[in-house]
Amino acid sequence: MQESTAAVRAVVWTNEELQLLDQRALPQLVNYLSYREVDAVATAIREMVVRGAPAIGIAAAYGIVLAARARYAQSPEDWKSAIEADLRTLAEARPTAVNLFWAIERLRGVLAGIEGDPEPVLLAEARRIHEQDIAANHRMGELGAALIERPCAILTHCNAGALATGGYGTALGVVRAGFASGRITEVYADETRPWLQGARLTAWEMVQEGIPVTLQAEGAAAHLMKQGRIEWVIVGSDRIAANGDVANKIGTYGLAVLAHHHGVKFMVVAPSSTVDMTIASGDDIPIEQRSPDEVLTLAGQRIAAEGAGAWNPAFDVTPAALVDAIVTERGVVLKPDPNKMRDMMS
Ligand code: MRU
Repeated sequence: MQESTAAVRAVVWTNEELQLLDQRALPQLVNYLSYREVDAVATAIREMVVRGAPAIGIAAAYGIVLAARARYAQSPEDWKSAIEADLRTLAEARPTAVNLFWAIERLRGVLAGIEGDPEPVLLAEARRIHEQDIAANHRMGELGAALIERPCAILTHCNAGALATGGYGTALGVVRAGFASGRITEVYADETRPWLQGARLTAWEMVQEGIPVTLQAEGAAAHLMKQGRIEWVIVGSDRIAANGDVANKIGTYGLAVLAHHHGVKFMVVAPSSTVDMTIASGDDIPIEQRSPDEVLTLAGQRIAAEGAGAWNPAFDVTPAALVDAIVTERGVVLKPDPNKMRDMMS
């Protein structure tokens, strides 16, 4: 077994700067990039140096620390109004993962009451967000694994692991806990076109941890389920609406429809910072459209016929009716509906 990735950190604060593990280079290269300016952090979020809803929120929180340092040095009197432009820049980086806006609002609430140098106070809050996310993932790992009644293989989509979070992972946190307790025997991972989070990131995490992982093209999922090879689909989320509708990586909705048809259970694992109670249903969740180039090319090489266009929505919405369980650190909601979601969040 190689070194464990349970402790891998996608986001690190060290030597008074933010370091992000460049997920565009994985698994070939483990390379941390350094950030001292908030604009560069926003660009890193947009360009997927850091990705995955909770990790984006944590990176933004540290980005606000950098912004506050610069604005306070420029003008100790006006930094609170000047930093608003930086918060807007961060908020515009990606639209779907609500953890980004959640983290910005949490730090905005803290900065309002600061007198004097803001950096120590905001850094303490960013670190708290980071540590709370890791703790939430461990709790969700236990809660989610406990739902699995007998040893089985599972299917996951995208990467909802240590790399997508503060550490340990949401869906892959359940996999880690479930594998340790013997409930999960094996992981099937969708390669997750076009960005290949499954092939490049989930497979990397699982291999390093000694958890058996088998990659498949997304198109293989129906056949896998028809053969009775898995009992659960386990995924993360970028935003959960007040009625339990779930936005996640494009392709998740299709998996939920397939799971329903084949009698496979469908589990969504996400911290409460991913739940957006201001949005009544998934219809109101903004879906990011990314560049057609991500579909038309592979590793920088054009693979599609010249002249073809491409449609590249990065996320889709799975209706609550197709979800068997939403697992948060606050508890488990079975067969989600607006009342159960409200009870869990209140
Ligand atoms: O475009 P990405 O890679 O940021 O999308 C990530 C996902 O869709 C994850 O499944 C989701 O953020 C949950 S991560 C714990």
